[in-house]
Amino acid sequence: MASTLFETDAPDAHVYLDRLAATDLGRAYKGRMLDELDIHPGQTVLDLGCGPGIDLGGLADAVTATGRVIGVDHDQAALDAAAERTAEQRTVVTTQRGDIHDLPLPDRSADRARTDRVLQHVADPARALDEISRVLRPGGRVVMGEPDWGTLTVDHPNGDLSHAYTRYVTGEAVRNARIGMQLPRLAAGVGLTVPTVIPVTPVFRDVQAADKILGLERTTRRALAAGYLTEDAARSWLEHLVSGPFLATVTFYIVVAEA
Ligand SMILES: C[S@@+](CC[C@H](N)C(=O)[O-])C[C@H]1O[C@@H](n2cnc3c(N)ncnc32)[C@H](O)[C@@H]1O
Repeated sequence: MASTLFETDAPDAHVYLDRLAATDLGRAYKGRMLDELDIHPGQTVLDLGCGPGIDLGGLADAVTATGRVIGVDHDQAALDAAAERTAEQRTVVTTQRGDIHDLPLPDRSADRARTDRVLQHVADPARALDEISRVLRPGGRVVMGEPDWGTLTVDHPNGDLSHAYTRYVTGEAVRNARIGMQLPRLAAGVGLTVPTVIPVTPVFRDVQAADKILGLERTTRRALAAGYLTEDAARSWLEHLVSGPFLATVTFYIVVAEA
């Protein structure tokens, strides 16, 4: 359908996560999340939906040898990768299989928790937040990083095509597409206080760099299959993305909430 500039086959999920984490954007927002966690030596820190464990090492350094880091995920393959990645920090880092809606952890057992692009995928974000609130100690803190796909803009001379594409992303492609914006309200709903909301808005001006994160061609194909774009519209959309000056943005929210 389109230029070889696009990555037409989806990368392996862990490769995708590692690749994004290694970008300037990935390093910046993850660094900011770590700063906002304000971790002290000896604390117990949860990474909920830890995936292949990219962030566990940084958390382990922050809690030092006297603390604990627990990576939780419902995907055993992700936990295996996380355990392998943190093998040298085994005395501090453990992994535990579990669902964020029903955490396998005691009440008031953690000082800090983080979620990073997890709540956009879960069946019931409010329930997940209730669980996070349950396992945090009084004064404990959770830092959540989630996009608001409703803020996605991709410039195109035909605004109808941009609109059809973004309508597909928010309407079908992502389960909880507006979660970034909703998090402060959902957190308040389970009794957490929200001292800080930080919007992070990358501006993509290179179509290939954007494609590596947004999967532009693959998403367009799915929007076509779902009836949001016609074949001609999809072709015209992609052709312009690779030929003209490219501009896309999406806002990612870092939300700090306290028990
Ligand atoms: C986009 S990945 C992010 C991984 C990691 N936080 C990172 O930033 O690299 C989302 C992760 O959330 C996990 N996940 C999704 N729903 C979950 C649930 N209900 N309970 C636990 N983990 C879940 C997935 O298995 C996946 O590893």
